[in-house]
Amino acid sequence: MLLKATILHELNKVYPDGLSIDLLCFNAECSLLDCIHVIEQLQHKNFPIKMRNNVAYLTLPLISIEEISKETQCLHMRYNYILKDKIASTNNLALNQMHKFEHGTVILTHSQEQGKGRLGRNWTAPMAKSIALSIVLKPKIQHEMTPLFTQLTAAALSLSLKDYVDVKIKWPNDILINKKKVAGILIETNFQGSSLQGVTVGVGINTNLTLDDFNSDSKKKATSLRMETGEVVDPNKLIVRFLVHFNSLYSQWIESEDPSSFISLCKEFSLLLNKVIYVYSPTSAPRRATVMDITNLGELLIQYEGELTLTPLTSLDFSIRGLNGYV
Ligand code: BTN
Repeated sequence: MLLKATILHELNKVYPDGLSIDLLCFNAECSLLDCIHVIEQLQHKNFPIKMRNNVAYLTLPLISIEEISKETQCLHMRYNYILKDKIASTNNLALNQMHKFEHGTVILTHSQEQGKGRLGRNWTAPMAKSIALSIVLKPKIQHEMTPLFTQLTAAALSLSLKDYVDVKIKWPNDILINKKKVAGILIETNFQGSSLQGVTVGVGINTNLTLDDFNSDSKKKATSLRMETGEVVDPNKLIVRFLVHFNSLYSQWIESEDPSSFISLCKEFSLLLNKVIYVYSPTSAPRRATVMDITNLGELLIQYEGELTLTPLTSLDFSIRGLNGYV
C-alpha cells in the first residue's frame, strides 16, 4: 500500500478518534517528515484530515476498499473494487473503459467533480460527503430488459436506506426522504451494434452533506442522511448493505428471469402509486394522470385524465411531479 493510502487507512480505523503523529509514523512505518509531508498533500487535495496537538484525525469517515471487500467476499457476485481520490464521473470511467472491467467491478471515489444525473443534469459528490459509485455488469439479456436495472437498483437502495430513515421511491430513479431527494440512479449501457457490451449502474447517495453544501435551489429539493438523522453515516456500512441487497436481487432475477421480487419492492416503497401526478414531456404540455401500477418491464402504468386506457411510461423522456410539487 502507498504511504498515502496507509495513513488514510490508519486514521479511518480509529475514526472519530485520532492518532498521535508518533504512533501514526510507527504504524505506517515512515519517518516523521514523510508522514507530515503526506498529510499536507492529502489536506491540499481536500481530504478531511486535521492536526491538533500532534494528533492527526479525520473529520469524516472515508470509503475503505478493505472494509467493503471483507464484508462482500462471500457473495454470488464476485465484486472487485477500484477507488479513486477524485474523478470526473464514475459512470464515464465505467462506460469508456468497459472492455477493461470485469463483470462486478465497482468503481468508487472519494469525490466526483462532473457527475451526471438523469435528463442531462449534474451530480457532484464533494470529498467524503457523498457516495458516488458505478457497478459494471455484463449480463446476457435482451436490451428491452435494461430499464429494469433502474428499478432493481431503486429497490436495493431502498432496502439499504430503510434502516436509517423512512424512504420512498419516486419512479423511476429518485430516492426521497420527506419528499426531498437523498439518492439518485443513472443506468447507462454500451452497445456494439445491437449487442449489449455492458451496463453501468451509477448510484449517488447524499450521505454526510450539510445544508451549506447545497445551493439555494437544491436546499429545497435535496437532503442528506446526516441532515435527516443528525448522525454521521459510515459510508462503508451503507455501501456494503447496498451491494448485498443488489447482489441478492440481481442474482435472483438473472436466475429466474422474473423481476417480480424487486418490482414488488418498488411498489411497496413507491411514492407515486395510486397518486395523481403531472407528466412533463419535452414535446407537449403537462398532463394530469393517475398512477395505476408498475409493470414487470419497469414502466409506470398511468391513466391520463379523460382516457379509459392505461399508458405505460418508460423513463426516458418524462419527468413527473405530484400535485403538491414534490421533486
Ligand atoms: C439522477 O438522480 O439524476 C441520477 C444521479 C446519478 C449520480 C451517480 S453518482 C455515480 C454515477 N456517476 C455519475 O456520473 N452519475 C452517477
